[in-house]
Amino acid sequence: MNPQTPQTALSDLAQVTATIDLRIEAFLASRGFPPNLHDAIRYAALGGGKRLRPALAWYCSIACGGTGKDSICAGVAVELIHAFSLVHDDLPALDNDDLRRGRPTLHKHTNEPMAILAGDAMLSLAYEAVQDHRDDAISHRLSAELALGTRAMIIGQVYDTLGGLPGNTSPEEQLRLIHRNKTGALLTASCRMGAICSQATDQQLELITRYAQAIGLQFQIVDDLLDIEGSSAQIGKATGKDAAAGKVTYPGVVGVDRSREIVAELAEQGSRALEELKACTTGSIQALVALGEMLCDRKQ
Ligand code: IPE
Ligand code: IPE
Ligand code: MG
Ligand code: MG
Ligand code: MG
Repeated sequence: MNPQTPQTALSDLAQVTATIDLRIEAFLASRGFPPNLHDAIRYAALGGGKRLRPALAWYCSIACGGTGKDSICAGVAVELIHAFSLVHDDLPALDNDDLRRGRPTLHKHTNEPMAILAGDAMLSLAYEAVQDHRDDAISHRLSAELALGTRAMIIGQVYDTLGGLPGNTSPEEQLRLIHRNKTGALLTASCRMGAICSQATDQQLELITRYAQAIGLQFQIVDDLLDIEGSSAQIGKATGKDAAAGKVTYPGVVGVDRSREIVAELAEQGSRALEELKACTTGSIQALVALGEMLCDRKQ
């Protein structure tokens, strides 16, 4: 995310991401990894990247009346799952990408065995991270949310890469299934985990989930659009790969214009959920509103 973002509601975003990075750094340093594995995980989890998922956890905590800070272990956990998903997504067996976050992908920077094992390690570390929460009941719930989001992400990656989608569904429904699973579910987990860290009520959690599902789908549609319209220098990864690889994408199935309309409709759905949340929280929804707007026309 662009730290120069004009929205004042997000004026502390750079500070939030720096706080998360410091925590990830300290967490990794305390695990006793051999230096080669430690370096590989650091490379994949830090340096470049928007830290959108921890930011969502942070601002969802605030929106439900929490401090933001109370969501740090959730933010570390979801970011580790996300980094693991990117490392494996880039492997030759999946998307076979050489560039990520403006640098060589981990398997190019090191080698394939290390990229596979560093990904495995990050998956496992994420569960250690949620155990750090001081409240056991919250820790337990965080772990369940993380598992749900991770399972869906892997199912989505299978749909995206190997098929297996239910046969009796329309192309648009299939698209939704791929995108909601591979990307939306972890974004939803990030938001819900932030809300859970601030002891959200059931009603707050339901509204946070509606917001998250809308921006989660929206996020992957914009990612599909950036693959066509974005510049590799700006997004830090190769462009034009989806069509070449025969991926099922929104612009590929419904066209670029309709994809943009759907992005706008989803943004609207997200902000409606936040408006409803406003009526039942003492927290501020402003940062989430600003994030939703920013994600609509992001360029990276
Ligand atoms: C990229 O996610 C992969 C998708 C789910 C589309 P991000 O765009 O959040 O990647 P980073 O963390 O900023 O690199
Ligand atoms: C990946 O989707 C979603 C993940 C679970 C990693 P993409 O394959 O489109 O993500 P990018 O474009 O490589 O970041
Ligand atoms: Mg992929
Ligand atoms: Mg990819
Ligand atoms: Mg993509």
